[in-house]
Amino acid sequence: MHGELRSTEWYSGDDRNAYIHRAWMRRGTPDSAFRGRPQIAIANTASDLTPCNSHLDEIAQSVKNGVYEAGGIPLNLPVVSLGETQVRPTAMLWRNMMAMATEEMLRANPIDGVVLLGGCDKTIPALLMAAASVDIPAIVIPGGPMLTGHFRGEALGCGTDVWRLSEEVRAGTLSETLFNKSESSMIRSKGHCNTMGTASTMALVAEALGTIVPGLAGTPAPDSRLLEMSHHTGRLAVDLVHQDRRPSSFLTKASFHNAIVALAAIGGSTNAVVHLLAIAGRLGIDLSVDDFDRIGSDVPLLVNLQPAGRYLMDDLYRAGGFLAVMKEVRDLLDPSALTVTGKPLTDYLDEAQIWDPDVISRRAAPLQPAAGISVVRGSLAPGGAIIKPAAASPHLLKHRGQAVVFDSIEDFHDRIDDPDLEIDETSVMILRGCGPMGYPGMPEVSNMPLPKKLLEKGVRDMVRICDGRMSGTAYGTVVLHVTPEAAAGGPLARVRTGDWIELDVRNHRLDVDVPAAEFAARGVNEATVAGFANPRRGWERLYVDHVLQADTGADLDFLVGSSGSEVSRESH
Ligand code: FES
Repeated sequence: MHGELRSTEWYSGDDRNAYIHRAWMRRGTPDSAFRGRPQIAIANTASDLTPCNSHLDEIAQSVKNGVYEAGGIPLNLPVVSLGETQVRPTAMLWRNMMAMATEEMLRANPIDGVVLLGGCDKTIPALLMAAASVDIPAIVIPGGPMLTGHFRGEALGCGTDVWRLSEEVRAGTLSETLFNKSESSMIRSKGHCNTMGTASTMALVAEALGTIVPGLAGTPAPDSRLLEMSHHTGRLAVDLVHQDRRPSSFLTKASFHNAIVALAAIGGSTNAVVHLLAIAGRLGIDLSVDDFDRIGSDVPLLVNLQPAGRYLMDDLYRAGGFLAVMKEVRDLLDPSALTVTGKPLTDYLDEAQIWDPDVISRRAAPLQPAAGISVVRGSLAPGGAIIKPAAASPHLLKHRGQAVVFDSIEDFHDRIDDPDLEIDETSVMILRGCGPMGYPGMPEVSNMPLPKKLLEKGVRDMVRICDGRMSGTAYGTVVLHVTPEAAAGGPLARVRTGDWIELDVRNHRLDVDVPAAEFAARGVNEATVAGFANPRRGWERLYVDHVLQADTGADLDFLVGSSGSEVSRESH
């Protein structure tokens, strides 16, 4: 241990304040608990309204056992939790609130280290943002994916199959009755979504970053090995305090390099881009959206999981797991990046093995030779926008088509199935007002469903452009995170239906083919620019006034960076 425990500032001494701090915590706890034993918070996002995390109390119990066994004192700390499918208008609006509230509770309480229990999409990013800003020893346990559900003899992928089946209903190839019948088969067990959506992606990427015991991420939620690893993580948390291993001591640009390689190799969610940028921002690490293109775009796709592929998360675990994937791209990893255990990620790869090459492809036969996130820029996205080519239609990656513009998601829903809407498969669908400020909260709406009349013709993909995000379980030729967003005065606000749009992913371009002077002189529809972003009070007001654009992670401007764990004043 390097110096005194942080918690001794609360508990040591015989004065009135130390008495108060100890006495209210006693409740049967022996005096020895407050004498030099690491106090380990378990930041627990278990909540009945975050169904993907509702089993985390069971994991917390295993962590507690491990902490206690190693000589620490485990302390359950319920924190803000976000159920992706439940909270409105979008969980992303609350990610920064969760990060801020967690950061303040970690700083305000007498703790020396923290185990972060997350799962559903925003929970691991928010927990990591908080821990990075407080910079006390911290380690993540992802709650794990659910087991695969089946319907009519076929595996159901969370999210991805909801989009797919609902498109089938709109196309008239699946009855509404059967669609609704599939509902109770979708979620087979405890755990988060089982596709390579945002939750799975962030768990694996957090392991690549080094914040999880290597080999843990991706363990299915009902698998007893998750509890064993959680026990081990509890023990390790106590050790981290003794070693004073804080996030800032091992998270470097090299860690993010490895996370970007992992993101590409697993075919992970585009949402990881904003989350990794935000976490890096908390650590003062210079990471840009272009790093994702530079480091990741030539990394092969090795994991055959929905939405880009066929299988689901328990197949990945069965096939050898995340470390088997990393072993295949070992030469692309930065071996200098350490994990929370003190050893580099690359030290954990020797024993990893692929058991099913249909799920995890070997490097020599990748599913796609280059799978990472691509960045496009141009007159329609001067600050950049991203696209995931692995989930797109190859023939649309270079495309010229006329814009069909929607001013909001409500406008989109009102008009998309209008038989008189002038649109065909060559059109470029544009949805604006969905950025961080504009919605507010940057919802997952960019993967707009196609018009019914085109679905009925058999069209299954079109170029779509939006300043919002898309679900990690979605697929299609979708250009998203357009920066600056329309509500911030970006060029997207000046596009009109009928303008020619040019997308050229290979050459990193996204342009509107309107003479620059004419385009700049166009007036902007004030309703579009303001969007719905004029909240009167509360968190939404604070958010809209301070949120940054997607290219820097959509954090709040005053939350970027670290303020450390010091608390300067006593409470009484
Ligand atoms: Fe929670 Fe998908 S809704 S992980």
